[in-house]
Amino acid sequence: MCRDIKNQIYFLRNEILRHDDLYYDKNNPEISDVEYDNLVKKLEILEKSNFVLGPSTSPIKCVSGFASSLYFKRVKHTSPMLSLDNTYSNNDIAKWCKNIIKKINSSDVEFIVEPKIDGVSVSLVYINGIINIGATRGDGEIGEDITRNVMMIQNIPHKLQICDPPSFFELRGEVYINKIDFESLNKKLLSSGVQKFANSRNAASGSLRQKDSNITAKRKLSFFVHSFGKIYGKQFQKQSEFLKYCKDCGFQQQNYIEVCHSFKEIEDFMNVMINRRNMLTYDIDGIVVKVNNFQLHSELGHTNRSPKWAIAFKFPAKQTTTILNKICAQVGRTGIVTPLAILEPVTLAGVTISRATLHNFDEIRRLRINEGDTVLIERAGDVIPKIVKAIKKKKTSNTESVLFKRPDMCPSCSSKIVKDEERVAYRCINPNCPAQFKRHLIHFVSRKAMDIKGFGEDVIDQLLNKNKIKILSDIYYLSYNDFRCLNLFGVKKTVKLIEAINVSKGRSLNRFLFALGIRHIGERTSEIIAKKYKNMNNIFNTCVGDFTKINGIGSVLALSLEKFFKNKEIIHLINNFIKAGVNMVEFDSIKMNDKFDNKVFTLTGELKNRTRDQAIKSIKEFGGKVTASVSKKTSYVIAGINTGSKLKKARELGIKVISEIEFEELLAKK
Ligand code: IVH
Repeated sequence: MCRDIKNQIYFLRNEILRHDDLYYDKNNPEISDVEYDNLVKKLEILEKSNFVLGPSTSPIKCVSGFASSLYFKRVKHTSPMLSLDNTYSNNDIAKWCKNIIKKINSSDVEFIVEPKIDGVSVSLVYINGIINIGATRGDGEIGEDITRNVMMIQNIPHKLQICDPPSFFELRGEVYINKIDFESLNKKLLSSGVQKFANSRNAASGSLRQKDSNITAKRKLSFFVHSFGKIYGKQFQKQSEFLKYCKDCGFQQQNYIEVCHSFKEIEDFMNVMINRRNMLTYDIDGIVVKVNNFQLHSELGHTNRSPKWAIAFKFPAKQTTTILNKICAQVGRTGIVTPLAILEPVTLAGVTISRATLHNFDEIRRLRINEGDTVLIERAGDVIPKIVKAIKKKKTSNTESVLFKRPDMCPSCSSKIVKDEERVAYRCINPNCPAQFKRHLIHFVSRKAMDIKGFGEDVIDQLLNKNKIKILSDIYYLSYNDFRCLNLFGVKKTVKLIEAINVSKGRSLNRFLFALGIRHIGERTSEIIAKKYKNMNNIFNTCVGDFTKINGIGSVLALSLEKFFKNKEIIHLINNFIKAGVNMVEFDSIKMNDKFDNKVFTLTGELKNRTRDQAIKSIKEFGGKVTASVSKKTSYVIAGINTGSKLKKARELGIKVISEIEFEELLAKK
């Protein structure tokens, strides 16, 4: 395969993982949904024709996001929580409908269309009608246990309002915040000097993942059901029937949900909803089109990432115009130099915008924009604004001559800028570039890295100006006096910051690795490495090629790790961290739910709500063993209907016999 394509694939995979992390885990996306979707589409096309690269490890083959488990216990979902395929084009929806009709070999198909709620995906498990677990999606397989927090959401019933509820009922839906509550939350945050949320999705996610559930309670979150995981003790034929049942159970229902019989009807619904969108009390970012009949869901199946029986139509982005005051170049942590548009501040969808991304220098030429032009900007996916086009040119004698040129020198250190190996970006390769170092510091102290509270950009700027930090580890050698002479640093603030620095020394290895900012190594990879090597010594003692043997570490990442840990300056840096008392050991990773560890089960008779295979699978998922016959080693005998001699033997040996319902309770227990 051509080396260039291979590089592009690796680059795109890393970029997608990085953006997944920013979106799902940091609630701080750098690019819009449209741009993210474009990256995924590009990668899909490249991977389709270049499968030798092992697409099974590709981020687009699995659901994004992963359970951070910093504050919350991990929960394994009963079945994967998938994502949705999406498109911005009516034509794609028409094609999708056609394809469904072709696959099921009948034009007599019911679709159900629902607004796509712009919130956070959550799973709720009810055991015999009582709420038992609430969890985030996480990576789709394992989420975070946020039960205490979901119990604070006003329209989530703690007890289902029906007689005879299913013994096990796992609902999935969206936690969101109403527009009005979002506005007032942001106002409150601003007035108390806390940074506001960029959009309602971030507000919902941030509020839901609070350590203190009393804070969640104050945030006025809401919930809509949209799908389900495992259900025992109740069956549904159609999505419309399922939604109606949820309403009877006490769940609030979206107002605009329709059953359609053709693409034309779906298209009409989409057009109506584009206009109705602003009138809704909560944010939606599109429409979800689903096949209504569940039997067809099984026939159509799903990929690792998304079901084939549903697709999301995303709304066009929100746009407005403003003046492009200035274009400048900025240097990122890894040295990539990108242009940045400084805009005349303007409000778009409730947020003041004064900057926009210009992803690369070609974009300036493509858009033919100059300082002083009036430009159309959009917040696609309601995240980072970007310039769509110039609306009105500023009157200049020769437009061509004033187009902003990519600088040849780094705007920070004046080193030469080079095109990087992946040939997609321009980079300042000076390892001592002050702008890169500053970004590095900001990253090192950030929430997901060493999480040093109070060590903001302003503090970093002042310390750098006073020459107090020359290498990363200097953070741990700063004295009381170094802080006291900074602007606005009284005794209290200084002591607090020093305490925060000391606390950060105890962070686990995965955070430290992430904080080091090793090229291509994000949070997820840092976790994998920390889990595998347990401490820094082991990492330094790895042999050449060892990193490639780790599941989830491709050759680009492995090479980057090898290069990093062989570098003499890095060895010196890490020694300094060690001398300062920084922990470089991975805490025991929080145990997955292995509640059946060392437990041996034997099944006898027929079960009512699941097949034998399903029961065995569930036991194994929780770490238990299943044996065919009863012995002294058996912990539980699960007795269904028409039991045989095993039951008798269990009684003789004094082994605990449980019913199917009791087994379900064991499964659901944390
Ligand atoms: S159905 C297999 N219906 O959108 C997933 N999802 O971008 C079935 N979402 O993960 C989901 N509104 O969290 C469905 N009416 C709706 C939805 C909806 C919002 C979320 C959901 C999903 C995400 C995909």
